[in-house]
Amino acid sequence: MTFISIQEAITQQTGEVQLRGWVYRERGNNKLRFIVLRDHSSHIQCVVEKDVVGEEQFQQAKDLQIEASITLTGTLKADDRAPNGFELVVSSLALVGASHEFPIQKDQSPEHLLDYRHLAIRSRRQTAIFKIRSAYIQARDEFFRNKGFYRFDTPILQPTQSEGGSTLFEVSYYDTHVYLAQTWQLYGEAGIFSLEKIYNFGPTFRAEKSKTSRHLSEFWMAEMECAWLNLQELTDFAQEELKYCISQAVSRCREEFIFLEQDPDALLRMCEQEWPSMKYREALAIIKEKDCIDIPFGKDLRTEEERALMNHFQTPVCVTHYPVEAMGFYKPRDPNQPDEALCFDMLSPTGVEIIGGSERSLDIEDMKERLKADGEDPEQYDWYFDSRRYGSVPHAGYGVGTERVIAWICGLDNVKDAIAFPRTMLRWKP
Ligand code: 4AD
Ligand code: MG
Repeated sequence: MTFISIQEAITQQTGEVQLRGWVYRERGNNKLRFIVLRDHSSHIQCVVEKDVVGEEQFQQAKDLQIEASITLTGTLKADDRAPNGFELVVSSLALVGASHEFPIQKDQSPEHLLDYRHLAIRSRRQTAIFKIRSAYIQARDEFFRNKGFYRFDTPILQPTQSEGGSTLFEVSYYDTHVYLAQTWQLYGEAGIFSLEKIYNFGPTFRAEKSKTSRHLSEFWMAEMECAWLNLQELTDFAQEELKYCISQAVSRCREEFIFLEQDPDALLRMCEQEWPSMKYREALAIIKEKDCIDIPFGKDLRTEEERALMNHFQTPVCVTHYPVEAMGFYKPRDPNQPDEALCFDMLSPTGVEIIGGSERSLDIEDMKERLKADGEDPEQYDWYFDSRRYGSVPHAGYGVGTERVIAWICGLDNVKDAIAFPRTMLRWKP
């Protein structure tokens, strides 16, 4: 007999099976023990009776601690009292790895759980989140492949900033130093002259000096860059990507969403709707009128303002045309409205920026001026300007903050739980 997963056993409903996994819960008396076994797929209650397994194996069952690993042989039996309708009547049991007193119990502080993150990731909640994350990322790969995009991989070690010098991580590099990637974008822009339609998925680094529920020092950005695309086409595409990935993740992980108390059907309905798009100036007008928040044109939206705006919406919203002066050097001016950039942010209904993107400036002199204004040496970007010198074409792209999307759709109050081993200003271990 070969081992099957708990989910396969539940589907099979009857017969003798062999299962293996970890002790999730354990209780009982001197004649009967109830073990809840978990594996990657599910949980099942297993009944161990002394008269059936004998003295020695029963003692082993009694000595089991939470998280011990075991193998079991037994017969499946329908039981209305069991959490998923079935239990395993155990005929034999073997210990694989004993467990000590597990350092994680109910109601421990978030910091304690992060100290033991390598063990805390075994929880039912984290397992559900990881499954959703995995399904989401796989769906995204399918989305881009179906659209004829190529995956394009670029360096993590980079010579310059791209998203502002204040969040750079410096790394010593032989006799000099380099920086950890803040984005794939600048290399992606070079890549479209070879492949036209490209995407990536990779670790991205920002030395964020604030402690918030939305910032990580290391996160996984899901970027795309495409030749010949304008802002309208770009925002439509971003909407389509997100709707596809979320609905696929929901279809594949319905049980996990229910476990996390997120209504899968509400998420699916949201993906059927049209998501609004508005200019930054209109967004300012809304929060001025409805929330009495009066922001002068010229500043990026802050957390409070994003939250206030999104209180008025149930779906993501695309905010376009942010003020040029608050934007990165590569975001072009709208020729019809030169103080506005041809860019967008997508905000989640929870009021968090989940995507940032733009058309790309083709104006080398304007970019040089803006780099200088940021204290950068335009010489360092000369290789980047070459793409504008040799057959320049209009192009655009965006980056999705994977953890922010996962946190939103899973209903997490902090991005830290959307990644296995979070890195923040105060947390780089384990
Ligand atoms: O808006 P950002 O900074 O845009 C870029 O980096 C562009 N170069 C992307 C592009 O056009 N290819 O970052 C994109 C997204 C944000 O909208 C946010 O979701 C996420 O990345 N993000 C973070 N997520 C977690 N922790 C952080 N510190 C993040 N910084 C940005
Ligand atoms: Mg942004």
